[in-house]
Amino acid sequence: MAFSTSRYFLRLDTLAKNRNVDCAKYCIGIGQLKMSVFPPNEDIVTIAISAAQKVMARLVNKNEIDVLIFATESSFDLSKSAGIYVHHFLGLRPDCRVFDVKQACYSVTAALQLARSFVKDNPDSKVLVIGSDILKYSAGSSGEPTQGGAAIAIIVAKNPRLMIVEQHFSTYTTEIMDFWRPIEEGEALFDGKLSAQNYLQSLEITFLGYLKKSDLTPSDIDQVCFHAPFSKMAIKARNKTFADKSIDDTLIYNAIIGNSCSASLYVCLISLLDNSGDDLDGKRIGLFSYGSGSVAEFFSCTVVSGYRHMLSAEENRKMLEDRIEVSFEEYEQFCKNQADPGKKYANVGSIRMVRVENKQRIYERRIAG
Ligand code: HMG
Repeated sequence: MAFSTSRYFLRLDTLAKNRNVDCAKYCIGIGQLKMSVFPPNEDIVTIAISAAQKVMARLVNKNEIDVLIFATESSFDLSKSAGIYVHHFLGLRPDCRVFDVKQACYSVTAALQLARSFVKDNPDSKVLVIGSDILKYSAGSSGEPTQGGAAIAIIVAKNPRLMIVEQHFSTYTTEIMDFWRPIEEGEALFDGKLSAQNYLQSLEITFLGYLKKSDLTPSDIDQVCFHAPFSKMAIKARNKTFADKSIDDTLIYNAIIGNSCSASLYVCLISLLDNSGDDLDGKRIGLFSYGSGSVAEFFSCTVVSGYRHMLSAEENRKMLEDRIEVSFEEYEQFCKNQADPGKKYANVGSIRMVRVENKQRIYERRIAG
């Protein structure tokens, strides 16, 4: 498992100052300190390729990938799968099956469960699951301090070296208008209070369903990770289910990236694995995935012995520490997807989006340096 995010961030105290909001509301009330912001040359495809290249570096042979599933809710194309660009730049086999999936922030979990079933039926196959999102709310809205974005890449295989996805799960689907983005809109629309209420109700239902189906008790779960649209939401989820457990390690990356939608839960999971001082060998981690609209799932993974060899904690910390702070004015420019003509923007990975020509996105490999 690996993740990537933008090379740029905005401090939330800078946002608060410019929106005439007490910065304690963002930093304490919502629990967010910084958010990743994206220059015009970076999009869901370029960050996805960056995350995928990191995880592919762990594979002996890239031809082992049979299926690529790209999960996103911020696609720029209603027909063509964003996964095809990733397939192309990674140089995967032409007979690799590629498709996108969508269900708000839940979609990576759907893709992961699909991949698990596929590998069970085809034990020699490996599936590359990608989740990549950049979340935009309107300027000045209550959602604005919870923007963010990141991409996650996971290889699902017969003999996992990091975690085993367990068979127990409980899902809950209900039709609700808590967060949506009509085709013509660049920014998400939402009912913040309703979304938080439904998130917590879905957690209660799926957690109880998981315990019933699995015959486990809460004490069988060693650590827990929640979808984190903002850190305080995950803390409220923890308070409802595992009030005695700390989830601080799961939120270290999220608090400085923001809501990365489909990738969010898995960024929290990597944050836990990278930052926990405990030895997690053989431990069970409960995971709560929520996607507005809405679908939720509570499921679990167990950590494989020797998992630390598969982590890139130093690299992840460095990626986040080395990000470049933007001013409020630059942030506003990024929101409009505008480039400063006098500036060359940094990319997180080796591919950048150079222009849109005849309504087609043109990507190119970045020359090193
Ligand atoms: P709001 O309504 O402006 O904020 O936005 P609020 O008034 O509820 O205040 C937030 C917290 O800050 C409160 O704490 C206040 O007390 C506190 P709480 O009572 O909740 O513990 N506060 C302060 N603390 C310290 N000093 C101060 C201060 N002032 C206030 N001076 C809201 C909050 C969540 C509504 C907003 O951020 C929002 O609408 N976000 C977008 C929707 C969202 O993230 N929903 C989460 C659940 S839905 C989900 O997870 C799915 C999603 O990821 C999308 C997908 O699935 O694709 C979003």
